[in-house]
Amino acid sequence: MINKIILDTDPGIDDAMAILFAEAHPAIDLKAITTVYGNATIENGTNNALFLKQKYNFKADVAQGASQPLVREPVGATVVVHGETGFGDVHAPKVTDLQADSRSAYQYIIDAVKAEPGEITLVAVGPLTNLALALEAAPEIADLVKEVVIMGGAFGMNGHRGNVTPFAEANIHDDPHAADIVFTGSWPVVVIGLDVTEESFFTKDYLDQLRDDAGEVGQFIWDISRYYLKFYSEKVGLEGCHVHDPSAIAYVIDPTLFTLREGPIRVVTDGPAEGLTIQKFDGRKHLHDDWESKRAQQVGVAVRDQELLKLYRDTIVDYGTI
Ligand code: RIB
Ligand code: CA
Repeated sequence: MINKIILDTDPGIDDAMAILFAEAHPAIDLKAITTVYGNATIENGTNNALFLKQKYNFKADVAQGASQPLVREPVGATVVVHGETGFGDVHAPKVTDLQADSRSAYQYIIDAVKAEPGEITLVAVGPLTNLALALEAAPEIADLVKEVVIMGGAFGMNGHRGNVTPFAEANIHDDPHAADIVFTGSWPVVVIGLDVTEESFFTKDYLDQLRDDAGEVGQFIWDISRYYLKFYSEKVGLEGCHVHDPSAIAYVIDPTLFTLREGPIRVVTDGPAEGLTIQKFDGRKHLHDDWESKRAQQVGVAVRDQELLKLYRDTIVDYGTI
């Protein structure tokens, strides 16, 4: 089965790894890349998406999205993790001979979902601002998407609670109000958060092997990941990196790699726990319950990491050696 996806992303080093994974795998039809601020400014992130489209000859459209969150003060580009322009030490030249779609990302999403009811999976691997704007402008799309797959959040499984604050994951912390709108929407959401993305690990050797075996694309992934690995080594104390955004693509390709837990999800939108994601997964009745009326969503709580790593490697090697 071919999955038609729109990938909403803040490119971003691991975003680029995910974009290439989606483009490379035969079970995915990458229809569009919609951009959002986050790891980079919206201008740099969109240029990075256009750069990849041009470099690898993607059919996918690129549509530029939100430049800031719905309510909170912007956190700013994550230069310490992704570099000045988003791809670490690789600075994509300004793409002038390709244009982004004239519509904003949220309008592009609405139009695409309505054009193919029941066919499109929205995969979001950045702040959820574009998805929230789309849902607010056209609530009827909730019944028309196939599924919404999100890399974001942390629910405390396997000891994973937060990466930008002790209790918040970056994509949700960037726009907690948007995340709460998206998680409580009446569409089917699967959350691939730190609980599982921090269970999979690209070691330095894994990335070296990819460079050696996957041709130019392997070299590109290796080049952009040098800055990322330096951050992990110096700031996190790990020699390699977690597999964040590619894990959301892995879910679309093979959902059986993940164990899911069902229940409605809310997001803390201010205070010291801003960006905290909380799933109610028991059936207990309470006097007051802001989860009760919300749709039950799915949260990834376990992953077969070695199989995921093999899937990524095999896909990129095949793509890079055609
Ligand atoms: O917390 C990890 C997430 O934040 C990833 O999507 C990464 O690209 C950054 O956006
Ligand atoms: Ca991202």
